[in-house]
Amino acid sequence: MNEGFIGIFDSGIGGFSVAKELMHQLPYERLLYFGDTGRRPYGPQSLTTIKSYVMDISNFLIDNKAKIIVIACNTASTAGELEARVAFPNVPVIGMVEAGVRSSLQYSTGKKIAVLGTKGTVESGVFERRFNEIDPSIEVISIATEDLLRMAELGGEVGGFAKEHIYSLAKTAVDQAVDFGADVLLLACTDFTCIDYIMEEAVAARARIVDPAKETALQVKHLLEKTGFTSNSEAIPDHKFFISGQDVKEFNSFGSQFLGFKIAATKVTLDKNRRYHYI
Ligand code: DGL
Repeated sequence: MNEGFIGIFDSGIGGFSVAKELMHQLPYERLLYFGDTGRRPYGPQSLTTIKSYVMDISNFLIDNKAKIIVIACNTASTAGELEARVAFPNVPVIGMVEAGVRSSLQYSTGKKIAVLGTKGTVESGVFERRFNEIDPSIEVISIATEDLLRMAELGGEVGGFAKEHIYSLAKTAVDQAVDFGADVLLLACTDFTCIDYIMEEAVAARARIVDPAKETALQVKHLLEKTGFTSNSEAIPDHKFFISGQDVKEFNSFGSQFLGFKIAATKVTLDKNRRYHYI
C-alpha cells in the first residue's frame, strides 16, 4: 500500500493546483492524475451524472494502484465524495469542500463569506450547509460563475481568451461578493487557478482570496501519516497523467508549464465494466 499512488482527478486542468501542492508537501509520493477533459465541463451537468463519473474515475485510479483518492474538483466533491467513501471503504477519499471551509474560516473575521463556483456546486448549497453546521452566525453568498469558469478551464489567457474579457466577468462576480460585505472569497472551483492573478486584480485588496489547494494537500499528508500509507521511497517520483479527451497536446503543454516539468499524458477511455482502452 505504501508504494501506491496518490490518485487525483478533476474535470480537466484545475486539479493541477492541488497536484502542485501535493508534490511540494509530499515530494516522495507518486501521483496518478486523471483529467476528465472528454466529459467536461462538469459545472452544468447534473450531480447524478457527475456522481457516476466520480465512481468510474475512482475505479480507474484504484485499479491503477491508487492508495488514496483526492477529488481535486469542487463539483465532483459536491456530487460524489460521500458516496465514494462508502463505495471504497479501504481507500481514503478526500475532497475539496472541507478544505475550502476550513481555509475560509482561518481568514474571515467578519463572518461573511462568498463562495465562487460552478452552477452545480452553488445550486447544491453544500458550502452554506457546512458553514452553518460549524457556526450558524456565518453568512454565505454563493455565486455561480459559469462563463468565467469556461474560460478558466481552458487556461484563461494561455487558452487564448482576452484578459479584458476575463477581467470583466471576474469583476462582476467579485463586486457582488464585496457588496455583500464578504471579507473572504473562497475559490470553490479548482479552475480558478488558471486565472488567479486576474481574480486578485479584480478584488483589488477589498477582501481576501482563499484557494483551498494547500489545505487539501495538508489533509492528504495528515491522512497518509495517520493511516501509515506514506511512501518509504526517497527516489524522485515518476508521476503519471491520463485524460479522457482528445486534447493531449494542450493538456501536456499547460501541465508542463504549470507544474514546471515535462508531462506526457496518455488518453484513456473508461467503461462501466472497468475495462480501459489506452490510446
Ligand atoms: N474544476 C471543477 C471544480 O472545481 C469544475 C470545472 C467544470 O465545470 O468542469 O468545480
